[in-house]
Amino acid sequence: MNLLSAQNLSHSFEYKLFSNVSLDLYEKESIAIMGMSGSGKSTLLHLLSTLLKPDEGTVTILGKDISGMKTKESALLKRNKLGLVFQSHYLFKGFSAYENLEVSEILSGQKIDDSLLQKLDIKECIHQKVTQLSGGQQQRVSIARVLTKKPTIIFADEPTGNLDSKTAQEVMKLFFEYCEEHQAGMILVTHDNHLANMCDKVFELQNRELKRIK
Ligand SMILES: Nc1ncnc2c1ncn2[C@@H]1O[C@H](COP(=O)(O)OP(=O)(O)OP(=O)(O)O)[C@@H](O)[C@H]1O
Ligand SMILES: [Mg+2]
Repeated sequence: MNLLSAQNLSHSFEYKLFSNVSLDLYEKESIAIMGMSGSGKSTLLHLLSTLLKPDEGTVTILGKDISGMKTKESALLKRNKLGLVFQSHYLFKGFSAYENLEVSEILSGQKIDDSLLQKLDIKECIHQKVTQLSGGQQQRVSIARVLTKKPTIIFADEPTGNLDSKTAQEVMKLFFEYCEEHQAGMILVTHDNHLANMCDKVFELQNRELKRIK
């Protein structure tokens, strides 16, 4: 099943970032997007995940063109179906790690999965305040928070940027297992060739175009 289809997207800020970007994501599939810093990877992820409107082109998620959606409909889609793991963690700083997961639990009606905490190795620190956690622990808590709500599409912007390579591999494995088990898909932005190659398809933003390299 097609989860997401992007057709001929273009976007500019002060200058043209890219044009004619098209891609399709199917269930149980993972896509990596690579490219130099400033090439527009995060912007593209924002266009694909309802956070930003493209200058041109269309994004269809689960069969619906998102440009035609009312604010409420797209907010519900984002809350219930999309999982966003971004470069900054956006955890609630005054709360403990566990309380952050509880927010996700309440909003989505899904239960916190104990085995997820185990796999992410955050069981020991789960009751500490977010501000007392290391950058890598915060990153893993934000991944747990996103997976707790059982999204159909995961958008991850350098989700393992603060992790050592062994932990990064384990976290990636968890994402792949999640997609397989839940018929979900993932679009991953990464600078890491090895992690990118673990995905089914690899694209690179280069000279204002999105080129398929795997
Ligand atoms: N909201 C914005 N307003 C104006 N310019 C922006 C905005 N967001 C991004 N840009 C510009 O667009 C360009 C691409 O930014 P983007 O964050 O998409 O790059 P990136 O490929 O994700 O880079 P990195 O690998 O460093 O994260 C940059 O030059 C950035 O300054
Ligand atoms: Mg970026």
